[in-house]
Formats: sequence, C-alpha cells, structure tokens
Amino acid sequence: MRSHTLLYSFFASAGLAVAAKSCRCLPSESCWPSHAEWQSFNRTANGRVHALRPVGAVCHGSAYSSAACAVAQENEYDSIWRADQPGAVEWPNWEAWPELNQSCYIDSKKSIPCGQGRISLYTLQAESAVDIQAGVKFARKHNLRVAIRNSGHNHAGRSVAPESLQINTHLMVNKTVHTNFKPAGYNGADGGVGLAVTLGAGVELYDMYTWLAENDIMAVGGSAHGVGVTGGYIQGGGHSLLAGIHGMASDNALEFTVVVADGRHLTANAYQNSDLFWALRGGGGGTWGVVTSVTVRAFDDAPFVSFSISGGAEFESDEYWNAVEFFHSFLPKFNEAGGSLYYWLIPDYPDSTLGHVSAISAQGGFGNATSKAAVDKFMLPLVYTLGNLTGAAFTYSSTYIPKASSLYVAEFESSDSVGTPVILGSRLITRDFMKSAEGPGKVTDALRSLRVYPGNTTLGQNAIQGLVVGGPAVWANAGVVDSALHPIWRKALVHVILARGWDIDTPVAEQQAIQRNLTEVEVPILKTLDPAPEGGCYLNEADGYEEGFQDSFWGSNYARLYKLKQKWDPENLFIVRTGVGSEDWDAEGLCPK
Ligand SMILES: Cc1cc2nc3c(=O)[nH]c(=O)nc-3n(C[C@H](O)[C@H](O)[C@H](O)COP(=O)(O)OP(=O)(O)OC[C@H]3O[C@@H](n4cnc5c(N)ncnc54)[C@H](O)[C@@H]3O)c2cc1C
Ligand SMILES: *[C@@H]1O[C@H](CO)[C@@H](O)[C@H](O)[C@H]1NC(C)=O
Ligand SMILES: *[C@@H]1O[C@H](CO)[C@@H](O)[C@H](O)[C@H]1NC(C)=O
Ligand SMILES: *[C@@H]1O[C@H](CO)[C@@H](O)[C@H](O)[C@H]1NC(C)=O
Ligand SMILES: *[C@@H]1O[C@H](CO)[C@@H](O)[C@H](O)[C@H]1NC(C)=O
Ligand SMILES: *[C@@H]1O[C@H](CO)[C@@H](O)[C@H](O)[C@H]1NC(C)=O
Ligand SMILES: *[C@@H]1O[C@H](CO)[C@@H](O)[C@H](O)[C@H]1NC(C)=O
Ligand SMILES: *[C@@H]1O[C@H](CO)[C@@H](O)[C@H](O)[C@H]1NC(C)=O
Repeated sequence: MRSHTLLYSFFASAGLAVAAKSCRCLPSESCWPSHAEWQSFNRTANGRVHALRPVGAVCHGSAYSSAACAVAQENEYDSIWRADQPGAVEWPNWEAWPELNQSCYIDSKKSIPCGQGRISLYTLQAESAVDIQAGVKFARKHNLRVAIRNSGHNHAGRSVAPESLQINTHLMVNKTVHTNFKPAGYNGADGGVGLAVTLGAGVELYDMYTWLAENDIMAVGGSAHGVGVTGGYIQGGGHSLLAGIHGMASDNALEFTVVVADGRHLTANAYQNSDLFWALRGGGGGTWGVVTSVTVRAFDDAPFVSFSISGGAEFESDEYWNAVEFFHSFLPKFNEAGGSLYYWLIPDYPDSTLGHVSAISAQGGFGNATSKAAVDKFMLPLVYTLGNLTGAAFTYSSTYIPKASSLYVAEFESSDSVGTPVILGSRLITRDFMKSAEGPGKVTDALRSLRVYPGNTTLGQNAIQGLVVGGPAVWANAGVVDSALHPIWRKALVHVILARGWDIDTPVAEQQAIQRNLTEVEVPILKTLDPAPEGGCYLNEADGYEEGFQDSFWGSNYARLYKLKQKWDPENLFIVRTGVGSEDWDAEGLCPK
C-alpha cells in the first residue's frame, strides 16, 4: 500500500509530462472573459449558456420570491426536480462551501444571504456534442475551472466546482437500439458484436428501464430512478442486481463518444483510442472528457425472482449480533448461486409492533431465475436460522417476475429520496475473507463498533448498509475485461456503506467534525472489515475526503490511470474531488499544488 502511495507522489513531483499549470482564472481577475466574450461563446453554443445561481437563491435576499421559493420548498426532496435544476445537486451539502461559510439552503432563514458556494457561475445546457465542444474550447482558452454535471447524484461532490463553468449533459437523452452493433473500426466477419443500445449522456435509469421494457430488452443498470446511466455511474464501474449474471455496467460498455480536453469529439472503443476506453471503464466520471454517449450490451429481458426478508432481535442483544454473523456467513454461497441483495442492519430500531429492537432487513433476488420454488428452497434455511438465533420468526416473501425490467420500472417509479446533507464512507469485503473461518466474526465485530443514530432514518444514519451487487459474472471477467475498474471488484462480495449527515442549520465547525470523524475514525474502522492487501471501495459510494483515494478507488490500476490523465488531459481541465490527478491540485481544483 505504502509503496503505491510513494510511487504516485514520485510521478507527481517528477512532473511526468505535466504541462506548466497555473491557478484557474477567477471572476475578479483580468483573465476572466469579458461580457462580449461570454456573449460570443453563448452564440457558438446556440444560446445555451446561462448565468447560474444556487437553487435556493429564490428563498433569500434580493432574489427572494415567495412563489418561486414555495415551489422549491415543495420539491426539494425530489431527485428528478433537483436533477432538472442546474443550480442544485442531489446532496445539498455539496452545493455549500463550508470552508468559506457559504451556503444557500432552500429552508435556511430568509435573512441569511445566499452564498454561491460550489455552484458554478455559468451553466452550458448542452444538447449536442457541438455545444460541448464550444464549452470545452472556451474553458480551455480562458483557463476556467470546469464542472461536468449530469444528474447531480454524486455522493463525493464531483459534479460541483466553485467559480466554474458547468457543462450540463442532462438534456441529452437520445436512445437507440442496435440488433448487431458494429463498433467504429470493427471488421469482424460477423458484422457486429451483438445486441446493444446507445444512450445519450443525460439518460436517467428510469427513462432507460421504461424504454428497454418497451423494446423487450434489458441492460445492466443501478437501482435508482434519477441516476444517470452514462455519466458517473458507468464511468465509476456501475454495480447492479444483474451484475452477477452480466458483469459490471462498465464491463458491458462497448463504445464511448467523448469530447476530450483538446476539443475533439472522439470515439473510444476496443479498436480506436483503446487506452481512453480502458480509462473510461472505471477510471471515474468528470476526468477524461465530456462523454456524449455510451453504447452498452443489451440482453433478453429475462425473468427475475425477487424476495424480501426482515426481522429483529432483542435490542442490542448478543443474539442479534449472532444473527448478523450468520447472515454474513450465508452471503458467499448466496452470491455464488447467483443471488444479489441490498441489506440494512439497524441496531436501534423502534418498531411499532415489535417495540425497541435490533433489526435486519434485506431485499434482492436472482436474475434469470425461473422458479420461485427453487429460490424459496434456497432462502428459507437462512430465514429459519435467523429466526432460531433471535427467537422471533423473520418474515419472508418472494415474487416471480417474468421480465426483470418491470421490477425496475415498478420499484423505482418514484424519485429517489434526496435533498438532505449526507456523506458516505465505505469498503468492499472480499468473498475469500467472508469464506474464511474468522471472516464473518471479524466483520461483525467491526460493524458492531460503528455508531448508528436512532431516529435519523431519512438520512440512513440509523443503519449500516451492505450491497451484494457483483458476483459470478464480475469475478469471471477477471483477466477477460481489461479496464480501469479496481481489481478488488473481481474478488468482492459486499460493499458496506456508512452514512452520516447533519441539519442545514448545524454550525460549520460541527459539520466538519462529523466529516473528520468519518474520514479519520470511521473509514479506518471500515478498512478493518477486510485485511485484503489491495482492498478498496466503490468510488461512487465513498468519502469525498477519502485518504489514500488512489489505492482505495483503483489499487494497482492507479499508476496507468495517472499516466493516461497526463496524456489525455495534460492541462487538467477535468479535475474532480478525489479523481485521477486531483492530488496535483488543491481540494477545490482551483490551484495546482
Ligand atoms: C439514490 C441513489 C442510488 C444509487 N444507486 C446506485 C446503484 O444501484 N449502482 C451504482 O453503481 N451506483 C449507484 N449510485 C451511485 C451513482 O452511481 C453515483 O452517484 C454517480 O456518480 C451518479 O452519476 P451521475 O452522472 O448520475 O451524477 P453526477 O453527479 O451528475 O455526475 C457524477 C460524476 O460523473 C461526472 N459526469 C457526469 N456526466 C458526465 C459525462 N457525460 N461525461 C463525463 N463525466 C460525467 C461528473 O463530473 C461527476 O464527476 C446511486 C446513487 C444514488 C444517489
Ligand atoms: C444566451 O443566449 C440566450 C438566448 O438568446 C439567452 O436567453 C441567455 O440569457 C444568454 N446567456 C447569457 C449568459 O447572456
Ligand atoms: C457563517 O454564516 C452564518 C450565516 O450568515 C453566520 O451566522 C455565521 O456567523 C458565520 N460563521 C462564521 C464562522 O463566520
Ligand atoms: C437525437 O436524435 C435526434 C432525432 O433523431 C437527432 O436529430 C439529434 O441530432 C440527436 N442528438 C444527439 C445529441 O445525438
Ligand atoms: C439464462 O437462462 C437461460 C435458460 O436457462 C440460459 O440459456 C441463459 O444462458 C441464461 N443467461 C444468463 C446470462 O445466465
Ligand atoms: C426454527 O427453524 C425451524 C426449521 O428448522 C422452523 O420451522 C422454525 O420456524 C424456526 N423458528 C423460527 C422462530 O423462525
Ligand atoms: C467517531 O466515530 C465512532 C465510530 O462510529 C464513534 O464511536 C464516535 O462516537 C465518533 N466520535 C465523534 C466525536 O463523533
Ligand atoms: C441524528 O441523531 C443524532 C443522535 O440522536 C443527533 O445528535 C443528530 O443531530 C441527528 N442528526 C440529524 C440530521 O437529525
């Protein structure tokens, strides 16, 4: 681990192919584009450039409007509404800039002035690659800080940047089916690589699933309504309940079209710009260029058997933690058999009928499964053992779903629950460790030492979340799919996530203490969940201040990623928090170190 870290700093200090860098141009400086230059840029970009204020501006100061503020208050927890507002992201703590004590919360007192925070000063509402090229060239010419923003769902503050130009891809929602996709440069005798779909940069999961269902096909995607498929999701790897049968979303990417830092609109696939293709599959969003579309493999809309399990034990009893341990010991064979699930451990749960208990709940299923009876036969021993360990029967139900798409369309019909300040910390646990004799016990002890907060259910702070969202096809792609995805995914079983948050009126010093405790105390506890030497976590569900992010997010792939960053973006136009190459910049990406 240590030697990797030293290696990165060697590259950085040796200035490997790094062009001379200066701070980004700020509005107060003479380098800032004049009014006429902004106007001329706007014309090149087809009138799609707009000055931008935080979404909460209409609730404060001179911009106050009781009607507009009422609309904002009505919609502030709705992910679709937030995604549609260029002056918002989904987790409003990232809109603020605590270091400068700037925020502009919709619900904070009207008398508090609206601070711009990390919200961009201008937005380019792109509708085509040509618009994006205009934005990239303008930003480069004037040395502007750039933020690429799609749905704004990112948990680590990567879709915002202070004092910046936002390139917004949210409006690019074209979708195309290919019965036999032919990547550019492909010349195989069979004429193509099979069934695939091309998705524009702004397509959200719900839109994708609804459209796939209409076409009677399916693709690998996440469990959410408003997450963008081709932005941060697939470029970060993209996990799914279907990854166990088809691989990670990024394993299924066949081709990207992307506007790179020099302004060219390129195609990256296995045949052209293959090093960029390698980096785009797992190297992280906002780093390689502005992706305009992604083509991914599509599949039959196969059946799915879903299930849910829940139950509890006496509050904080040893029986509860024994059940937690047993649950974890069941996961390797469950995942090996093709099962995937999300689970929540809620040690302090005020249930209306059970009273004050410690709870476990899980939801998931088996992709491509045709028999509900076979799934029940597999799951019931777990359900009964949990009941016998805790002394109270667990509830279980399952459903045969003829087409997996309908699960996603039905389950994620409503918007994601967002709009409150939330930060995450996380860790991947490997299958090998969980299968080892001491594994489940050690995992349980580490989880038991994490503090959870009763009552904070909307923030998820009352629970530890586990995601079993990789599995057989992801493991089988080891040595088959060569991409920037952290190699630990090829051995991973569970991604464990801890959420923290605060209220909009929590003093900044207290917010920073919660953040520091997450980074310095809680993430290190999570790191003890698995002693794997190349352990890591999922960069899309991680701490925005992750220490040693290079190892955590990319492991042994980092050295190559860093070199490719210098090749494709030598001036570091595209820098995101804890992204590749970000160690050469200050935390906001405004000045080189
Ligand atoms: C409710 C919820 C559910 C989730 N469920 C899942 C899940 O099931 N599986 C999973 O793997 N993840 C899941 N995630 C995590 C999700 O993958 C990340 O939040 C991801 O960053 C979202 O990407 P986005 O493009 O929609 O968001 P944004 O915040 O807009 O962008 C994320 C990052 O990608 C960059 N980016 C966006 N568009 C482009 C583009 N066109 N070109 C280049 N860079 C771009 C941005 O600069 C930023 O760095 C979930 C998150 C939430 C909030
Ligand atoms: C860009 O042009 C459009 C259309 O003419 C206009 O509505 C918008 O205000 C302009 N943006 C700026 C920053 O002037
Ligand atoms: C931060 O801003 C708030 C609201 O304007 C103000 O009340 C508070 O005193 C400021 N805190 C600091 C440390 O400047
Ligand atoms: C989206 O599709 C429409 C209609 O086919 C087309 O005119 C437009 O150019 C496409 N946009 C992009 C960004 O590909
Ligand atoms: C799904 O099941 C069918 C029938 O059993 C099988 O032919 C097919 O290979 C399976 N697909 C995957 C991706 O596992
Ligand atoms: C204990 O296990 C048996 C099967 O082995 C099952 O029938 C019974 O319901 C379980 N008890 C509880 C409380 O779940
Ligand atoms: C830091 O986190 C640990 C583990 O969750 C917790 O026990 C401790 O109370 C936290 N400390 C503070 C100051 O919040
Ligand atoms: C969450 O719960 C803890 C403990 O009850 C409390 O201190 C904290 O303020 C709560 N946070 C929010 C955002 O409600």
